[in-house]
Amino acid sequence: MNHFIYRNQELCCEEVEVAKIAAEVGTPFYLYSHATLARHFQTFDSSFANIPHLSCFAVKSCSNIAILRLFAQLGGGADIVSGGELFRALTAGVPPERIVYSGVGKTREELAYALRANILQFNVESEQELEALQEVAAAAGVKARVSFRVNPDVDPQTHAYISTGLAKNKFGIPIDQGVAVYLRARELANIQVQGVSCHIGSQLTQVSPFIESLRKLKNFIARLQAEGIRISHLDLGGGLGIQYRDEEPPHPEEYAQAIQAELAGLDCTLILEPGRVIVGNAGALITRVHYTKQGPAKKFVIVDAGMNDLARPSLYGAYHAIRPVRDHGQGREVADVVGPICETGDFLSRDQEVPVSLPGELLAVMSAGAYGFSMSSNYNSRPRVAEVLVAGAGYHVIRQRENYEDLVRGEEIPAFLQS
Ligand code: LLP
Repeated sequence: MNHFIYRNQELCCEEVEVAKIAAEVGTPFYLYSHATLARHFQTFDSSFANIPHLSCFAVKSCSNIAILRLFAQLGGGADIVSGGELFRALTAGVPPERIVYSGVGKTREELAYALRANILQFNVESEQELEALQEVAAAAGVKARVSFRVNPDVDPQTHAYISTGLAKNKFGIPIDQGVAVYLRARELANIQVQGVSCHIGSQLTQVSPFIESLRKLKNFIARLQAEGIRISHLDLGGGLGIQYRDEEPPHPEEYAQAIQAELAGLDCTLILEPGRVIVGNAGALITRVHYTKQGPAKKFVIVDAGMNDLARPSLYGAYHAIRPVRDHGQGREVADVVGPICETGDFLSRDQEVPVSLPGELLAVMSAGAYGFSMSSNYNSRPRVAEVLVAGAGYHVIRQRENYEDLVRGEEIPAFLQS
């Protein structure tokens, strides 16, 4: 359920006509519904209301500070993976005691920054990272609260590029080597061990892989307890999928119930790192048709958004439904919706039924709230698009469209080339 609906054949986001925003802001732009964002967050978070928990929104999925602020106001925290994401979270007003930091390649500078900010937890992914964190924490004269991300070797049954909890993936510490790392951490003066974490993949459409990994983590925690190591925080990562087309992912309540049933008896604060499930269907990419072209093999609808604005179709072959912004009975036809970028991989939809479109008409690329703007780039020297948040009858530009000056900011022509 989301707040993108048709009224008098016009696609509206909450109470605002999408065409009106396009006329005023220009295209392309990302459009988010405040009501959908808030409802998705609250539905997810309240599903765990019976147990001590913290929902740390995965900043990488949608990192605009207005959206981070909204979740912080609703009691959420942030799952970050870089110094830049920490800066965003702090700028948005996420309390540091609700921030967890994952990622295999944290630099010493990033570790120091997060220590200064006094975040809740570092999800450490290797023994060398542990040693680096000890050094940096000792230099700063503080103690780092640590959880180790263990790799439970569970198949999340999703796209290979977004599977993270398999033995062959780069993430985490193999679960069989885990106890030794905890024993080492216990000896370090500036490390305070508090948690175990994992994240097995993204866009999971079944509960079973989550449960399988939770069982492995429970056994692991029992082994740690036998060594006298107490675990107060269990971080299960993110990964719950959404419906793009005909997937039937578990409802957050079903997911939460299954997890809580399995958790019974474990005295831990549960940390969750949802991204896509909160924002995916709360956002759309709005684009205008430039031209249409009938080739010998297929028809192309050439729009003003490209793979630099929404990478998912090119990168993962991902499906995004394409809807007309004005539904005037134009019908649908099989065509490729493509961008202006000079690559054959530049498509937003391929061999799918899309609205029959004329130059100048607007299209909405749905389910684009997660890993949409946050993965966008300036490829082909295209300024990054605007982001707009609708709330009720009003809308707010939460990120200005970039301009040409933005494209060359920081670039310099060295003196020897200036003559
Ligand atoms: N926690 C960690 C440690 C993660 O690596 C991720 C996502 C999440 C949480 C949030 O996962 P979610 O709830 O959103 O599934 N760009 C890809 C998805 C990459 C996911 C990376 N990690 C896509 O567009 O499908």
